[in-house]
Amino acid sequence: MLKMIISHDTPGSKIDKNIYGHFSEHLGRCIYGGLFVGEDSDIPNVNGMRTDVVNALKEIKIPVLRWPGGCFADEYHWMDGIGEKEKRKKMINTHWGGVVEDNSFGTHEFFELCRQLECEPYICGNVGSGTVREMQEWVEYITFDGLSPMSQTRRDNGQENPWKIKYWGVGNENWGCGGNMTAEYYANEYKRYATYVRNFAGNIIRKIACGPNAADYRWTEVLMREVRYMMWGLTLHYYTIPTGDWGKKGSATDFDEKIYFDTMKSTLKMDEYITRHKTIMDKYDPDKAIALLVDEWGIWTDAEPGTNPGFLYQQNSLRDALIAAVNFDIFNKHSDRVKMANIAQTVNVLQAVVLTDNEKRISQMLLTPTYYAFKLYTVHHDANLLPVYFNSPDYWNENGGEKIPAVSNTASINKSGEINITLTNIDANKPHELEIDLRGKDLDANNISAQILTGEYVTSHNTFENGGNVIIKPYANYALKDSKLNVRLEPKSLILLKIK
Ligand code: AHR
Repeated sequence: MLKMIISHDTPGSKIDKNIYGHFSEHLGRCIYGGLFVGEDSDIPNVNGMRTDVVNALKEIKIPVLRWPGGCFADEYHWMDGIGEKEKRKKMINTHWGGVVEDNSFGTHEFFELCRQLECEPYICGNVGSGTVREMQEWVEYITFDGLSPMSQTRRDNGQENPWKIKYWGVGNENWGCGGNMTAEYYANEYKRYATYVRNFAGNIIRKIACGPNAADYRWTEVLMREVRYMMWGLTLHYYTIPTGDWGKKGSATDFDEKIYFDTMKSTLKMDEYITRHKTIMDKYDPDKAIALLVDEWGIWTDAEPGTNPGFLYQQNSLRDALIAAVNFDIFNKHSDRVKMANIAQTVNVLQAVVLTDNEKRISQMLLTPTYYAFKLYTVHHDANLLPVYFNSPDYWNENGGEKIPAVSNTASINKSGEINITLTNIDANKPHELEIDLRGKDLDANNISAQILTGEYVTSHNTFENGGNVIIKPYANYALKDSKLNVRLEPKSLILLKIK
C-alpha cells in the first residue's frame, strides 16, 4: 500500500487559474472553422463565433486566450484585420500551409470571442517583422479613450469604448520564427518596443517578454539580467515529441507502449526545465515578482494522414489527457512562479481540446480526452496548493531498463474549504493502492466523491461518430478506513477526489 500525507493546515501558493489557459493561432482550422465560422455560416454562431465550441470552452472555464500566434504573430499586421471585411487585405499564411489569410478575423473579432468566452485576452505583438510604431498604435487602438488617430479609427470601425487588456506579449519565439535573434539583441529590442506599450484609461498592461525554448538557460539568464525591471513575465515553450525526432514525431493514435513510455518520459522534462529556469529567475528576482508563463506546451505528433501537414491537425488520445494532467501537476507545483500556461492549441491544432468537422456527421464537434482533463482540473482554479508528502512508485519500460514516476498529483483547498485531489497513474498496466492521510481534517464518507477519466487503451480516443470512448465517469473504488482515505489508482487513469 502506497502512503500519501497531505497537510490540510498549511496551504501554499495560489494555483492561478490562468495555468489552464489557451492558445489560438491563425493556423490550419484553429481560428477559421474552429472558433470562427462567420455570421453567414450554416453552423450556429453568434456574431460569427461557433456556439457549440464557445459553450464547450465556457464549460471548462477557459480563463485566458492567447492570439494571434505563435509564428503567425511576427508576420501579422493588425491594421490588415480591421475595418470593412470586404476591403481587408488578403495575405499568404507562409508559416502554416501557404493558404490565403483573408483577415476576416481581426482585433474586433478577437475581443468579441473573448467577451463570449468570458476570458481574458492575451495578445502577442509583432517584433520580428513589425515596427515599434505598429505595436504602439495597436495598444492605442485597443485601449485609448481620448482623442487620437487610433481611437478615432476604432470608433469609426464601430467600437466606441476602448477594450481592456492585461496581457501583452512583445514578440514570439524571437530566437526562431520571430526573427532568429540572439538573446542580447532581443533584450534590446524588447526594451525598445516595451517602452511604447503604454497604459491608457486605467488599463494596466502586463508586458511579457519572449523567453527560452526548452533548455535554453542562457536565454533566461540574459533576459533576467538585461530586462528584468521592464517585464511582468517571461515565457517558456516546450513541446512533447513522442519519438523525440522532429522529422518523424509519431502518430497521435497508433503507438505502442515503448513510444507511450518515451512520450511520458519526454513530457516529464517540463519539471526539470521549469525548475532550472526558476533557479535563474530566483537569482535576479528573489521576491518572485516576475512570472514564468508556459505559453506554448503540449504534445506534437504527425498530422492526421490525408490532412494538410501545414495545418498541424492531430487526433487526441487518452495518452494526451494523461500528458495534460502530468503537466498541470508540474505547473501547480511551481505555482509560486508559474502564473500562466497556454496549451497549443485550443481547437483543431496540436493538442486540441475540441475538434470540429464541417461534414454532416453525428456531431460536428468532438471533445477530446484532453478536454476532460481540463474539466476535472477546474477544481484547482485559483485554489491554494496543499503540501503533499509522497514517494511515487516507478513505472518501468518494457525491458526494465528505464523508469519514471508512475503517480503524479495535485492537492488544493479552495475558498469554501473544499479539498480536491487529482491523482494520475500513467502506468499503462499496473494499478496502485493508495492510503491518503489528510492531516488536520476529519473525514466523513458522506462528504467525499470521486470521478475518473480513463479508457480501454492509452490509444483510446473520441471520434465524431463516438464521442464517448474517453469521458469522465463516477468512480467508487475508494473507502474510508481508520480515518484514512484508501483509493485504488487504476492504470492509465486520472482520478479526482472531492472532499467537502
Ligand atoms: O504552436 C505551433 C507553433 O509552435 C507556434 O506558432 C510557434 O510559436 C511554435 O514553434
